[in-house]
Amino acid sequence: MAEQIVGIALGAALTFIAVAMHYSKGTGWEPNDDISQKVLEKRAASVPETSFPEPMNRSIGGGGVPAGAVAAGTEGELEEGEEEEDAGFDPDAIPDDEVEVYEIEFAKEGETIEIANNENILDMGEEQGWDMPYACREGSCLSCAGHVEDGSAQDYVRHSNNDTLNEDEMDQGYCLTCTAYPTDSFTLETGEQP
Ligand code: FES
Repeated sequence: MAEQIVGIALGAALTFIAVAMHYSKGTGWEPNDDISQKVLEKRAASVPETSFPEPMNRSIGGGGVPAGAVAAGTEGELEEGEEEEDAGFDPDAIPDDEVEVYEIEFAKEGETIEIANNENILDMGEEQGWDMPYACREGSCLSCAGHVEDGSAQDYVRHSNNDTLNEDEMDQGYCLTCTAYPTDSFTLETGEQP
């Protein structure tokens, strides 16, 4: 009987304590303010800004002109110049008042004929009935070649097209009669190749 009384008294006491704690004010503890944002701002202010270009800046202002592009442009200009040099001249573009006639001596045929600066030597020789050598008739082989006895062929004829003779050969007097038009009077040996 006494044990029951002690148990009830103990239970009542624990209940009282629990109720008393429930209604007590507690310790008054408050959580600290969240200072994480302040710490981040302080650290950002202490780090100096870098002078490194950002990737986006590099893409906007950096880079420069690739060297290859400049070289390509230069090559293009040279190619244009070479094309102009190789174009030859157009005898049909000579105006009537600039047509001039020269005396061409055909050494092997033993005759001198007049040929204008818009008439080619092969055609005019054939008009005389002479058996002139030729094949392509467009300056692309060497069959019609002849030799100017007076000096460099470039001082006496112009070629409308010349795919065969180089500068040295022309300086030695060789020309292609099928595309050669006189710019002066001279003596020609037909059937002569370099
Ligand atoms: S015939 Fe071929 S270059 Fe004159």
